[in-house]
Amino acid sequence: MPGFRRWGKSKFEKNPESSFKLLAAILVITFYLLIKEFSNPTVRTRDTSTFGAQIQHTAWNGTGKAQETRAGKVRSAMKYTYWKYRENAWGADDILPVSGGNLTTRNGWGAFIVDSASTLALMELWDELAHSLEHIVGIDFTHTEDLVDPFETTIRYLGGLLSIVELYDVGMIPEDILDGEARDLLLEHAVTLAEKLGPAYDTPTGMPWPRVNFKTSQGVADPPAVHFEHPDKPQYAHPAIGPARAGSSILENRVLTRLTGDPVYARNSTLAWAPLVWSKWKTPWKGIVDAPIDISTGAPVGRDRYWDGGHDSYYEYLLKVTLLAPPSDPHVNTYKTRFLESAYSLRKHLSTRSASAPEHAMQHLFIGKQDGETYHNEQGHLACFAPGTILLGSKFYDQPYLRTFALALLEGCHHTYTSTPSKIGPENWAWTPKLSYEAPFHAPETARAKKEWSESGFWSTDPEYKGRPEYVESLFYAWRITGEQRFRDWAWETFSAMETHCKAPYGYAQLADVYRVQPSEWPGTGEGRWIDMQESFWAAETLKYLWLTFTDVGTVSLDDWVFSTEGHVFRMIR
Ligand SMILES: *[C@@H]1O[C@H](CO)[C@@H](O)[C@H](O)[C@H]1NC(C)=O
Ligand SMILES: *[C@@H]1O[C@H](CO)[C@@H](O)[C@H](O)[C@H]1NC(C)=O
Ligand SMILES: *[C@@H]1O[C@H](CO)[C@@H](O)[C@H](O)[C@H]1NC(C)=O
Repeated sequence: MPGFRRWGKSKFEKNPESSFKLLAAILVITFYLLIKEFSNPTVRTRDTSTFGAQIQHTAWNGTGKAQETRAGKVRSAMKYTYWKYRENAWGADDILPVSGGNLTTRNGWGAFIVDSASTLALMELWDELAHSLEHIVGIDFTHTEDLVDPFETTIRYLGGLLSIVELYDVGMIPEDILDGEARDLLLEHAVTLAEKLGPAYDTPTGMPWPRVNFKTSQGVADPPAVHFEHPDKPQYAHPAIGPARAGSSILENRVLTRLTGDPVYARNSTLAWAPLVWSKWKTPWKGIVDAPIDISTGAPVGRDRYWDGGHDSYYEYLLKVTLLAPPSDPHVNTYKTRFLESAYSLRKHLSTRSASAPEHAMQHLFIGKQDGETYHNEQGHLACFAPGTILLGSKFYDQPYLRTFALALLEGCHHTYTSTPSKIGPENWAWTPKLSYEAPFHAPETARAKKEWSESGFWSTDPEYKGRPEYVESLFYAWRITGEQRFRDWAWETFSAMETHCKAPYGYAQLADVYRVQPSEWPGTGEGRWIDMQESFWAAETLKYLWLTFTDVGTVSLDDWVFSTEGHVFRMIR
């Protein structure tokens, strides 16, 4: 990690006693501020008249109807995905879409089955859903051979279970597929899983441990394998996590509290991100947190400032929690302020326009990353969630300026898709910022990078496609919020490209290189163009957002539902 700068060891780390006192003081201050936040009505004087505005476009004039053929094609892709898994890897976490093998990546509870269930329900694939639910009811969430990742487990498993309960409760799943008794069993499973994850929050700050050992019921650090795979990952005195780990459990846990009446879930997940939301550490840019963050002290131990992977869903949930929270929630205005601060900081400090290139005059807006003093002119596909989320915030909080910004970011992501021969965007790319005071961190060095840059104004720094949803997720928000037909057409072009290039014998494969699509570019059988992986978010998110872009705009309206960071839908209670 060139350019990575660590903060010096703070002095209290050397003396355990003074460190304890400082910790106690931090906790007292945090609680004081939390209580003040609860009891002080003056923090609510901010103008909230437009808080909770209508989100979806309204003047459809007949254009919001389903595009049946397109929607049907996406539904068929979901059926294909589901049936290949069912016939060849039923019960495994993931199927390998090229070889038909399988992987245990998520504790062996059948991640695909739980994560894909809400997509099956929305698409009304009832026979498939019934079979999945039968399996889910039988899962033993108390037992696993491996350490459990509370972040992944919360967003994929807990969110998946709760979304089915929510859809049942509003009558969207027929009784002969799921009855009240089975619904209660699913909720019990969610409670069991949340309780087993409880030790994650056993830290002085309440921020979660990176892993939980279900056998000893203890929170633990990253497994050694993480350091083995990323030898340049800095080692800290205590485990340190990114904002996404601290801030991506509040939606799921709030829903669980609403469904059970037990406040512990909402409380634990609120405390988990409190050191970020009510940060005591000054950061140079409003609303943007410095990370990684020490889970024992809540102090930043690094100076990464991103909206990209590892940080992303903290910012996403700052907005979405205000959609989900009851209006009486005392924190919603703080969350609103933090979200708006962070979105404007993203615009001001992290996004840059690309310079014109020899064969491409157009300039595009992309999202970079700050590592310490160094600006990285590189974006990951994950950051393409930002246009959709910011557009949602611009509508909900009535911020027209953010709408313009979000649509420009979306155009940037769109450009990475349309510029490659496969018409699918790369995992990471870089550009030359139009305005830059110093030499950019990344420059096109290889002949290939120079060619890509010359033709499109950016070049890939990782040309893979991992089946990720973020771009089509943002297209879904853009379509539902603006009502502009072009977003549906962009989504269709992307789906068609995925159908052409990713469809494999046992599912939808990831692509090794979105720039190589000709059979002649692959020696031998041509299998090298595929990566033999299909993560559960392909079914949970990518296909769901594509399908929802083509269905009637009344299907899970953004005015009634909140989408989790894994694409699971939760009811808004207003
Ligand atoms: C609504 O659609 C009809 C038929 O497509 C068209 O004639 C009419 O001008 C449209 N109205 C508005 C307000 O766009
Ligand atoms: C997963 O693959 C192994 C072979 O690697 C096979 O023995 C096993 O039956 C497969 N599991 C499932 C659930 O299909
Ligand atoms: C809540 O957090 C406490 C630590 O503060 C932990 O002991 C408990 O297991 C957690 N419970 C749940 C359900 O998260």
